[in-house]
Amino acid sequence: MGKANDRHRINERNGTKRSCSRHLLFIFFFLYAISSGHLQMAEAEEMKLKLPLGLKTSALKIPADNPITKGKVVLGRFLFFDKRLSKDDRISCATCHIPVLAFTDRQPVSIGINRQQGGRSAPTALNRAFTNVQFWDGRAPTLEAQSVGPLTNPIEHGFMNNDEMVAKLNSIDGYKKQFKMVFKTGITVETVGKAIATYQRTFLSGNSPFDRFDAGNDSKAISDTAKRGLKLFRGKARCGICHAGFNFSDESFHNLGVGWGHEVVDVGRYNVTQKKKDIGGFKTPTLREIEHTAPYMHDGSLATLDDVVAFYNQGGVTNPFLSQLVMPLKLNDMEQKDLVAFLKTLSGEGWQQIKEPETFPK
Ligand code: HEC
Ligand code: HEC
Repeated sequence: MGKANDRHRINERNGTKRSCSRHLLFIFFFLYAISSGHLQMAEAEEMKLKLPLGLKTSALKIPADNPITKGKVVLGRFLFFDKRLSKDDRISCATCHIPVLAFTDRQPVSIGINRQQGGRSAPTALNRAFTNVQFWDGRAPTLEAQSVGPLTNPIEHGFMNNDEMVAKLNSIDGYKKQFKMVFKTGITVETVGKAIATYQRTFLSGNSPFDRFDAGNDSKAISDTAKRGLKLFRGKARCGICHAGFNFSDESFHNLGVGWGHEVVDVGRYNVTQKKKDIGGFKTPTLREIEHTAPYMHDGSLATLDDVVAFYNQGGVTNPFLSQLVMPLKLNDMEQKDLVAFLKTLSGEGWQQIKEPETFPK
């Protein structure tokens, strides 16, 4: 017995020794890997997004030349939150797309560098993985292009041009090394765009009460008033014509008359196409997390969801280019309340875990 135990102990000790040296070997390999850039293997492996209920894998828009990898997500996260990615070290993407506010900023129009105000409200950065065309007027054809747009916007991150932005990042050793590990070409405007776009594709919202009701067939997931609201949304209230599909957007542009009647009108989509029919047209935004992203519309002019529904109920604002899809709806008070109750069932999950890194590349 005693002997057996002793032997056991000896074996244990030997075993410990063996695994100890195995650990040491592993550590050496790890250090070697870091120093030689071999970590690229694991970091470069393609990552599949885990989509919450209600979102569709077949609808993902991930360019062939920018697959999602762990290395890019880590790098994109640093860039998204790093205030040094601005002319005066005070602005990051998260200044206006605040994670706990479902990536908006609670302002009618955003405030950028030197406290300058732009003319538009910050939309959510959620569920961008399902769309190509970005911004209220669709001027960015890809999320990669969108991801570097704000950097040289004089009232957002404030760089004079992309060269100035790339030079600043290149002056930070940690970024230089990390970009080299993830992209062969190092820091360029393209690789900055690819990293930030990849990170943004991980901002998801699904598995809301609506999804559990609709995709999950859980009849108790939403209230009766929300059920009536859903029926109105898809029918009499006409919302689903434009807020179509699982992401509640047709990714198209419409003039609802928002902002008309003011001295200066934002012509929206017209700036991009120069076509008369696009005057005052704006992209149909997703309605996911809409409860958390007030104020509403491209100019932030509507404070609450009740205001939004009342706006549609009156038929938008008359102007020469008003969409023919918009008309007075004749919804009574209860119907308007039902509609708002439905909109509030679109708060889900897939983004609450997103937090600023504690340290940044030095
Ligand atoms: C000063 C505030 C501000 C900063 C900083 C900022 N944004 Fe924005 N963002 C906005 C505003 C305002 C819009 C709408 C502009 C427009 O459509 O013309 C917008 C639009 C977007 C959109 C488009 C969403 C859609 O539905 O089309 C995305 C995505 C986005 N920003 C991500 C980013 C990223 C990534 C960064 C950092 C590189 C960033 N933003 C920096 C305010 C800001
Ligand atoms: C003709 C297409 C169309 C129809 C119909 C429509 N919407 Fe919209 N919706 C849009 C567009 C486009 C915008 C952005 C308009 C702007 O800012 O100028 C928008 C904006 C919104 C917003 C604000 C989103 C944000 O992030 O600021 C909400 C909420 C909304 N719609 C809900 C509804 C509801 C509820 C209905 C039905 C009563 C409805 N919509 C009908 C196209 C439409």
